[in-house]
Amino acid sequence: MKFFVDTAEISEITELNELGMVDGVTTNPSLIKKSGRDIIGVTREICSIVSGPVSAEVTATKSDEIIAEGRKLGSLASNIAVKVPLTWDGLKACKTLRSDGFMVNVTLCFSANQALLAAKADASFISPFIGRLDDINLDGMGLINDIRIIYDNFGFETEILAASIRTVNHVLDSARIGADVITAPPGVIKSLVNHPLTDKGLAVFLADIEKTGQKIL
Ligand code: E4P
Repeated sequence: MKFFVDTAEISEITELNELGMVDGVTTNPSLIKKSGRDIIGVTREICSIVSGPVSAEVTATKSDEIIAEGRKLGSLASNIAVKVPLTWDGLKACKTLRSDGFMVNVTLCFSANQALLAAKADASFISPFIGRLDDINLDGMGLINDIRIIYDNFGFETEILAASIRTVNHVLDSARIGADVITAPPGVIKSLVNHPLTDKGLAVFLADIEKTGQKIL
């Protein structure tokens, strides 16, 4: 399973990328706002750091304008995935931008039927939002499961990019189901390393070796 990092913060991307944990990056207008950076400048900079797909989201809602924005974003670097909303205009733009040769990430997916439409529009990635469904007491992980079944039933090649990930269990369950990619905030990716028994075991090992008075270096 690929790890995309869901942020527009350069320092966070760089830190995880140096550890080999970043297969791609996703941004959205809210993350751009949070970064305080210019969308074009920060997107270019991210693409110069990360070799995998970097999702950059359009801000238009009409298909012709989405296509124009998508072409501009897509021309920033060869690893841009143009992120378009899951609307009819977004799907129309997806089809055209794919014909142009760009990668397209269809975002704001909240139902399996929407994901089916995105696959038929030849999306490179579909982004179902787990956390936002859980927020309203719906089953975010059930959506990932449904999309996996449907895509496998018909051999759709659109990659399932599990998004709006808030917890380590979202990562684990996405991996179990077979999502192709997860995109998560840096904090969630970093917290995957945590286990209380690892900390406890390490403390005992260190205490015991200290009692022997031995040092390796
Ligand atoms: C994904 O592409 C989105 O940018 C992101 O995962 C949304 O997450 P949120 O629901 O926590 O804002």
